[in-house]
Amino acid sequence: MKYEADLIKKIKASPAMAISMKARQMSASGVDVVDLSVGEPDFATPAYIVDAAVIAMRRGETHYTAADGTAELKDAVVEKFRRENDLHFSRDQISAANGAKQIIFNALMATLEPGDEVVVPTPYWVSYTDMVTLLGGTFKLLPCSYDEDYKLTPEKLDAALSERTRWLLLNAPNNPTGASYTRAEMRALGDVVARYPKVMVLSDEIYEQITYGTTPFCSFLSACPELQERVVLVNGVSKAYAMTGWRIGFAAGPAELISVMAKIQSQSTSNPCSISQAAAAAALTGPQNFVREALTEYKARRDLVLGGLQSISGLRLRAPDGAFYVFPECRAFIDARTPSGKVIENDNQLAAYLLQDAHVAVVPGAAFGSEPCFRISFATSRDKLEKAVDRIGRAFTRLA
Ligand SMILES: Cc1ncc(COP(=O)(O)O)c(C=O)c1O
Repeated sequence: MKYEADLIKKIKASPAMAISMKARQMSASGVDVVDLSVGEPDFATPAYIVDAAVIAMRRGETHYTAADGTAELKDAVVEKFRRENDLHFSRDQISAANGAKQIIFNALMATLEPGDEVVVPTPYWVSYTDMVTLLGGTFKLLPCSYDEDYKLTPEKLDAALSERTRWLLLNAPNNPTGASYTRAEMRALGDVVARYPKVMVLSDEIYEQITYGTTPFCSFLSACPELQERVVLVNGVSKAYAMTGWRIGFAAGPAELISVMAKIQSQSTSNPCSISQAAAAAALTGPQNFVREALTEYKARRDLVLGGLQSISGLRLRAPDGAFYVFPECRAFIDARTPSGKVIENDNQLAAYLLQDAHVAVVPGAAFGSEPCFRISFATSRDKLEKAVDRIGRAFTRLA
């Protein structure tokens, strides 16, 4: 019996989840593993948000809602964009779904014709390319190197766009590099996009609230308001409010596209959980102290990790502007020999060595289309980070 369609064979399960599973198995068998592979805040969801969910349940908000979100949640999203980005939307320009992940899937599904091209700067978030493949599109990767601060340049974008391009996928602050674009850099990219009238921009701004670096957050649409009819902003509550399990993401975009996305959702998952929607609305409209306090902690953790890794000569580090990842470039260690005599040929093998030898789980750069690098998530306690950085340092000194 054939259980997997040919199209599905072309995609893979999330590499970060696979590594995390391996780390968990090792922990279960008694090994003291520090797992830095997962991309989710380690904080508890703030109490005022949990309380809002309980109240919603008690009020009987336990039934189907409109497929792409309640009026209450959409109004909270409209208000968020007004307050934080000075962007003005109406309810019919907002969509809510089961995480930013489903929002991105819906937007691509709504628009892609077979063979349409999606331009993806690398390093990229692991799901973009597989989503494009699943939806019958093709992707064009634009490598952005360490020396370019891992940022797309207007020249590179101009050379990549063509009649076949349907979307440019931008993500800042970026997973895995933490790179952000200044307003001027966003504008310069927008100026290129403006010359290609068929191209839409999906700006994944899920890490907006986790911005602590030298480049302040700038939404693509605030930098390029004239492109409004061609821009979808993607955001959500997963990262900002430690709500990954609640599964609420949202988008702002052209009303016509938003209604096509709602149609898709009505025939796939229907509405995201009604209780989670109430909680997300409370998160967006309630006191924002949690976001500020978490930011201070993330910054301290980033500095701890950077400080520890800086002493490893050969690793090349960029200080992230946002998100909760560090993405060291490790070319100097390719072809190095482990204490057991094995030659490290690529970053997959380096990550495997760090897991086996140092008992630290990291995600290889290959998963993000950018080698040889590895991603460290610092969304974990400082104690664990100190232990992990120390172990990583010692594992690198054991390489010949
Ligand atoms: C860049 C990026 N976009 C989107 C998502 C998906 O977020 P959500 O949990 O809202 O589906 C993630 C999650 O890791 C991410 O890193």
